[in-house]
Amino acid sequence: MPFEHDNLWGLKYLSADEILYILDEAKAFRNILERDLKKVPTLRWLTVVNLFYEPSTRTRISFELAEKRLSADVVNFSTSTSSVKKGETLRDTISNILAMKVDMIVIRHSSIGTPQYISRTTKVPVINAGDGTNEHPTQALLDFYTMREKFMQFNGLKVVLLGDIRHSRVARSNIYGLKKLGANVVLCAPKTLLPPYPDVFGVDYTTDIDSALDGANVVNVLRLQLERQHSGLIPSLREYRMFWGLTAERKRKLDPDHIIMHPGPINRGVEIDPDIADADDSVILEQVTNGVAIRMAVLYTLASKIKK
Ligand code: CP
Repeated sequence: MPFEHDNLWGLKYLSADEILYILDEAKAFRNILERDLKKVPTLRWLTVVNLFYEPSTRTRISFELAEKRLSADVVNFSTSTSSVKKGETLRDTISNILAMKVDMIVIRHSSIGTPQYISRTTKVPVINAGDGTNEHPTQALLDFYTMREKFMQFNGLKVVLLGDIRHSRVARSNIYGLKKLGANVVLCAPKTLLPPYPDVFGVDYTTDIDSALDGANVVNVLRLQLERQHSGLIPSLREYRMFWGLTAERKRKLDPDHIIMHPGPINRGVEIDPDIADADDSVILEQVTNGVAIRMAVLYTLASKIKK
């Protein structure tokens, strides 16, 4: 198997071949999702715990569905109903969950590096479902799956990541993966929402939205992360939409053969106009469907590496 890793911490660590391996594996699982019986017995021996320390709709439900489609036993944990509310540390929570003999951990946490931190204490595979502003590898993998469905390959594709790149783990995972796959990545944001040192990513970046969108095949619109904003980064939501929102007029600059993506949740009328989000060239809900197949592929791949 060309997949070397025992965990999925981030796309920073994967090779192009490993990324393509997961996309190929996901194809078979995507077909299963179209059947009347959307379930296979493959992982009925596996118990997975989904630990979500931050809110989530798509990723949490998608992982749970992927686990259930593969017949794994699933335990869901959310901070609001757990002993975290009584002050229990992450370390103690993890130790106690591991004592109950789970086989795999899916973790979303606001702190960068939480998946690696957990892996220091256990050999149980850890899947990163989003760590702070660092990475969201399964989101990027489902984005790549959706791009490949439309364009077949990545070489020479112009992919614009538009919006709040500074706070976006989706952007970082997209950058790491798309560079390896040969796409031309352009970051576009107001200066305050670009990363502080954008050169370190080794991709083009600009504050000029017109030149960024010109001839682009993919525009992946990023949510304005209102919960992570410090004061003064944008003048107002109305002005953000006026200068940085994806509108019908700006859409005309894209290559005629294009798709519009968004990882969700959407701030309608802020980073993207509602009619653009719902148009025929928007693949936002296809991304969500493909996410279940990608997570099935990741779970299956890592489960097959567990030495039993
Ligand atoms: N795309 C994404 O991560 O959405 P959720 O926060 O709803 O999981």
